[in-house]
Amino acid sequence: MNLLFAATELSPYAKTGGLADVLAALPAALRRRGHSVACVLPLFRSIRETLPDLRPTDLVLTAPLGAGLPSARIWEGHTDRDIRVFLVEKEEFFDRTYLYGPPGKDYADNASRFFFFSKIVPLLARHVRPTPEILHLHDWHTGLVPVLVRAGRLPFRTLFTIHNLAYQGSFWGLDFPLTNLPPDYFSPAGIEFHEHINCLKAAIVFSDRLTTVSPRYAQEIQTPEFGCGLAEVLRERKYKLSGILNGADYSRWDPRNDPLLPMRYSASEPDAKRLSKDLVAKQVGWVPSGAPLFCLISRLTAQKGIPLLLEIIDEIRKEDGRLVVLGEGDPHWQESLLGLAREFSNSVAVHIGFDEAFARLLLAGADFLLMPSLFEPCGLTQLYALRYGTLPIARETGGLADTITSWDPVAGQGTGFLFQAPVASAFAEAVQRAKAVYRDPPSFRAMRQQAMRQEFSWERSAAAYEEIYQRLLGGAAAD
Ligand code: ADP
Ligand code: GLC
Repeated sequence: MNLLFAATELSPYAKTGGLADVLAALPAALRRRGHSVACVLPLFRSIRETLPDLRPTDLVLTAPLGAGLPSARIWEGHTDRDIRVFLVEKEEFFDRTYLYGPPGKDYADNASRFFFFSKIVPLLARHVRPTPEILHLHDWHTGLVPVLVRAGRLPFRTLFTIHNLAYQGSFWGLDFPLTNLPPDYFSPAGIEFHEHINCLKAAIVFSDRLTTVSPRYAQEIQTPEFGCGLAEVLRERKYKLSGILNGADYSRWDPRNDPLLPMRYSASEPDAKRLSKDLVAKQVGWVPSGAPLFCLISRLTAQKGIPLLLEIIDEIRKEDGRLVVLGEGDPHWQESLLGLAREFSNSVAVHIGFDEAFARLLLAGADFLLMPSLFEPCGLTQLYALRYGTLPIARETGGLADTITSWDPVAGQGTGFLFQAPVASAFAEAVQRAKAVYRDPPSFRAMRQQAMRQEFSWERSAAAYEEIYQRLLGGAAAD
């Protein structure tokens, strides 16, 4: 099959979260299965600076954007996995420091930026050879593509993957002219939602198939608690919605071969994990210690349950427990966390920023990873943590519920510590369970071994996507 992926992130060239890792791994896994896959992204500044063998093509595409008629030159390059990537060059939109806006904020012209990108995607698809049969679209930034394909009766099938329902690309109705769609599309049957343009709703209504990134999240988003207002829209279309669990790319995320780690280790030879723990301590200015080390590596947003963490800091610090946080995002959470680090400088360290090498050192050096997410579509960090032998303490939701099994002390089995209610007391109780296992070295070692042997391969996910593509090509559009 011939596939074109459209998205706004791609590791390691443009990344704010897990979407980037999916774009780096899934096309490569599909190609190993014999398919032809290319990707299209905006030519963000970070991509311009880092993508090898990037060069301009002769192709210039023009799309109406309200009263304007802007053009974009298409550039081309290859990822380090040799996947072909097309880039949409529009300097005034994409040559900026951040992808979406400074931490905690959105750029004011995001409607123009991503409507334009979405308009270029189907135009480009007509020029790509071999011609793609399926456009596989990711998150709201590409949400208008299924609408444009349907409205223009273009010869593509569309699969839209929801990586996070909380980000919907909602813009006031006054921006509707920027879509250049006929007025009747601004209606409840179209892309309008509560008098706003809603790009995610547009994709839910107009794409041929919908997936999300774990089976549990596919169910959850059809309920009011997790539906972010769109539960009913999704329930009405559940016939075309399914959940496919993401994988972990173990050629990049494995302590046996991670080039960014100062020392390698494995399930059978875990000694360097202990040395990595000492390195983490030294790096944040502490004397190394044998007490349990907790880490949090995350975007600092409401989704990630930061308030719960702030509330249980005393529980973590008991028995000399230590916490290292790596993250950036909402300035309010950044400040609160930095406040803790000032107050408890011997047991809490906070590094604000995006730092891939430090993230990997933490995964290697910590004993436990905290993911108290209020919701988690899939979560890749816990998959990486498992492989690095860092036991996740996580809320039982979405992909966390699908990938972690809670430690059962009687059976001596499990890979992490799950808690259900999104309240501090439940999280604190899970931390206590974790510390109890830590105090019992044979159990702790057994658990770590089980965690490190988990396999969440992209091959399995790619096979599941392949089935959907096949059905899309075999049958009529679903909606
Ligand atoms: P989400 O996509 O919601 O952010 P995931 O768990 O799917 O959550 O993916 C997060 C990815 O981003 C992981 O690869 C994680 O290591 C990485 N990450 C998150 N915050 C940082 C940070 N501050 N520095 C480096 N890597 C980070
Ligand atoms: C989103 C979700 C995260 C998921 C990632 C990749 O950012 O928040 O749970 O792992 O997308 O699909």
